[in-house]
Amino acid sequence: MCGIIGYIGDRNAAEVILKGLKRLEYRGYDSAGVVIDDGGKLDVRKGAGRIDDLAERLGFLEMNGNRGIGHTRWATHGVPNDINAHPQKDCTGKIVLVHNGIIENFAELKEELLKKGHRFESDTDTEVIAHLIEEELKNSENFEEALRRALKRLKGSFALAIVYADEPDRLYVVRNESPLVLGIGDGEMFAASDVPAFLEYTNKAVFLDDGEYAVITKDSYVVKRIDTGEIVEKPIHEIEWTLEMAEKAGFPHFMLKEIYEQPGAIRDAIHGNREVIKSVAEEIAKYEKVIFVAMGTSYHAALAGKYLLQRLAKKAPLVEEASEFRYEFEDLIDENTLVIAITQSGETADTLAAMKLAKRKGAKVLAIVNVVGSMATRIADLTLYTHAGPEIGVAATKTYTTQLTVLTMLAIELARILGTADEKYLEELERTLERAPELVEQVLGYNSSLRELAETLKDRKDFFYIGRGISVPTALEGALKLKEISYIHAEGISAGELKHGPLALLEDGVPVIAINPSGRVFEKMVSNMEEARARGAMIIALSDRKELERVSDVLIEMPPVDELLTPIIYVVPLQLLAYHLAVLRGNDPDKPRNLAKSVTVE
Ligand code: F6R
Repeated sequence: MCGIIGYIGDRNAAEVILKGLKRLEYRGYDSAGVVIDDGGKLDVRKGAGRIDDLAERLGFLEMNGNRGIGHTRWATHGVPNDINAHPQKDCTGKIVLVHNGIIENFAELKEELLKKGHRFESDTDTEVIAHLIEEELKNSENFEEALRRALKRLKGSFALAIVYADEPDRLYVVRNESPLVLGIGDGEMFAASDVPAFLEYTNKAVFLDDGEYAVITKDSYVVKRIDTGEIVEKPIHEIEWTLEMAEKAGFPHFMLKEIYEQPGAIRDAIHGNREVIKSVAEEIAKYEKVIFVAMGTSYHAALAGKYLLQRLAKKAPLVEEASEFRYEFEDLIDENTLVIAITQSGETADTLAAMKLAKRKGAKVLAIVNVVGSMATRIADLTLYTHAGPEIGVAATKTYTTQLTVLTMLAIELARILGTADEKYLEELERTLERAPELVEQVLGYNSSLRELAETLKDRKDFFYIGRGISVPTALEGALKLKEISYIHAEGISAGELKHGPLALLEDGVPVIAINPSGRVFEKMVSNMEEARARGAMIIALSDRKELERVSDVLIEMPPVDELLTPIIYVVPLQLLAYHLAVLRGNDPDKPRNLAKSVTVE
């Protein structure tokens, strides 16, 4: 999991690369490095630590040259230290490269290269690539041929940017199962793991597909297939995101900014899908067997999707973690199956693998994705975009509520097609969904009281989040938000399960967050809240029903809304609570330890 960037043009390459790396830090931040071609001498500077500190310590901005590449790392092979930081190079020092991904057969390749006399400095799988190209160069007509020969021998995921000292007018970049996008400038070219890295300079982007590489000079680019060397014509996408959209806009953290962006994001998700939702729902209607696959927060959205389809379309889909599906469902899917993959990044390795398996078995694949041009959109038969805009904070917030928005729209439309719900009710739901941005806005107004609540809770060791029915995914998501950024232990539980074990953990003062909107299971939840309270738990209720004051220590009063729309609204105070607890405990909520934004390795 890493971010890479390359630049060639007339600007000071180090400056462009440094800015780009900072925008890619969400992809990893344990070490960083750059190489700049300083008039034929490849100046490599790298080390363990955060980019800003390294830039100062190693003098990134004192480097000269108009061609270079950079890397921000999240370690996979080899601990984060100065030597394992990228760039990595071959024995001659002429082939210098940065890598995002994992080379699965690196040990075998390394052994072979060691026998041939290569000497390695680092423990990384990446260094092997540079040496392999060096080796292939001995039997090739030119560098490009050597590169292709080497790439064909690699197994695993790799996005690469490569500088070769003897070809001063170009950079090589490669994509296979890790993202890589070109930025097309006027007399300058960029390449990066993600668009914000170069958006300041150009909004014209070319997304490479798996198995492709590009040769870029300051005035040209050509994309080719690794296997055949054939040229591939690629469309240029005009990116609508402005740089400001990708920056903090005055908030102390991206996460808070993104929580506050939810009303607008939900609105965009509704507008962006209104035209297309019907045809996608018509496709879904044809399938008896529907399986959701996703990971993490997207998995929670999938769970909410299941409740929505059950209630509205009378369909009972399966919901599987993509990491399980990919190894367990081979024999259980066929051309009569529809797989709905939910992934904000569109690059989660397990979700992509699950989608590929589904395709191989002849299933139809629908992807619900935020990142335009991401791999998931290219594997899927059909794609719905969540239109949430870039999400930089590692913890998913607006991408979650927009996923829920799209799923709600889909379930409504499907129910309409299948005739499984009263049309008047469906129209009323649609009207309420239109009001969701306003309702979220209203809930954002609780920010300061949630901060005060966080003050009283910041030293607690365990939290429990309980819900029933469509509030189960909200309970799970609330708990996930808390653990990932505040590092407090939290469990999300279906309240019916309490008595079957977790109740034993409740004691005086343990916070139990009860998500209990009016609806089918309201009374049942009241009983669960009472059970927890009887064990001394501190009950924090989220509900539109004032009478819950009787069984709660704190009641967060929510606007009354149809139960099926509560996931979108009720998760917002839970995001804010987690955010404030993280900040009060001295954590950086944008960069939780051990986590990265898109999990492009298994
Ligand atoms: C949690 C979070 C992760 C992601 C998960 C899947 O806040 O962001 O749990 O939801 O890694 O990522 P995507 O949606 O990109 O497939």
